[in-house]
Amino acid sequence: MGWLLSQNGHYIEQKLSLHQWTGFLLVLLSGLGWLFHSGILQSTKILIRSNSVLILLLLFIVGHLGGSLTHGENYLYEHAPDPIKKVFVSKTKAPLVKTPVDSVQVYEQLIFPLFEAKCIACHNQEISRGGLVMSEVSGLFKGGKSGAAIVSKNLEKSLAFNRVIRTQEDEKFMPPTGTPLSYEEIQLLEWWITAGAPLETSLAELTAPKGIQKLLLSKYALDTRPKPWFEKVELPSIPEEKLLLLEQHQFSYRTLSAANNLLDIRFLGNEISEKELSVLEPIAPYITWLNLSNSKLTSEAFETIRKMENLTRLQLQQNPLKTFQLSSLTSLEHLEILNLHSTQVDDGVFDLVRAVGSLKKVYLWNTRVTPRQLENQKSLFQTTELVGLLE
Ligand code: HEC
Repeated sequence: MGWLLSQNGHYIEQKLSLHQWTGFLLVLLSGLGWLFHSGILQSTKILIRSNSVLILLLLFIVGHLGGSLTHGENYLYEHAPDPIKKVFVSKTKAPLVKTPVDSVQVYEQLIFPLFEAKCIACHNQEISRGGLVMSEVSGLFKGGKSGAAIVSKNLEKSLAFNRVIRTQEDEKFMPPTGTPLSYEEIQLLEWWITAGAPLETSLAELTAPKGIQKLLLSKYALDTRPKPWFEKVELPSIPEEKLLLLEQHQFSYRTLSAANNLLDIRFLGNEISEKELSVLEPIAPYITWLNLSNSKLTSEAFETIRKMENLTRLQLQQNPLKTFQLSSLTSLEHLEILNLHSTQVDDGVFDLVRAVGSLKKVYLWNTRVTPRQLENQKSLFQTTELVGLLE
């Protein structure tokens, strides 16, 4: 019966053969045992006994191999107490890819390993179940008896996708035995096919949607999230005396990191004048975070601020600013966060935010923008979050 079952192709050939041959041997020795027992065959006591011991041993071995085939390799220990489990259960982890994130090849290093681990035992040059060869790229697109396994940008027609998302009870579910693809693996496959199933594309060339970015980070330790601007800028270090000047003029400052010379600057006084602004002027390209909140800011300051080409965060809250004074901010190409709470900006500010395309977050509570105006505008901005009062 087992031999008949093995003909359906639902078992991995290499794993099957040992079970199959030990199984045949068991049948043979048991037959022999029966002949001895019924007296049809005569033998010495020692031979008959050794035959029985062998049968008993084989029964364990064949049974265990069969169990591993149908229930997976870890079936014996997977519900055992933890200390035992630790010793025996082998965990299959997503392989860590050890190349710089950008140069990771999507097909070769992320997709093919899934096929290799879960499909190729039954879909290769020698054993090609359903006529499908997955070990060669050409085989994927050519497909098997029922059609292509991968159809670029078409999930429905891609049989390799279609077969892994069925329920496990479905007789077409793949793989028919062994560990199914995990939810993450299915997501990766889906992303790759919808992106056109490219074969020689690296992660840098293929944009990953947010969900895939998260998955790549958590399962493969691959950080594909876009880098903030300030991590990309490289500038020579600033002369010590310029930093000293900052301190003498009521600014606190720090560099972003030991390796990054860009500055995070905060004005500590309560009224900023031309004198202080002139200290900022010569180091303008170095300033990436700037906090000038509550410093009685006037239009003059913007002459200096507009020169800060690498500015990414600007805090202008609690200043008597009106919308028209901010117009020069549109020249800042990398500004991501703008805090305008408790200023006098009105609904004209929405046009400004639109004009500074790089903005991700704008704080607008306690301004002349009414909560209703804010609510109405929110849906019009897709990449910028407008923050009003917390409800
Ligand atoms: C244990 C063996 C085995 C494994 C592992 C396996 N398959 Fe199959 N596969 C089969 C058999 C047998 C058939 C033919 C019967 C059928 O169509 O269901 C088949 C057929 C297919 C077909 C249809 C081919 C055609 O054109 O008719 C596709 C597509 C497929 N498999 C995809 C996969 C994918 C994807 C994986 C990995 C997630 C996988 N298989 C893993 C045994 C296996």
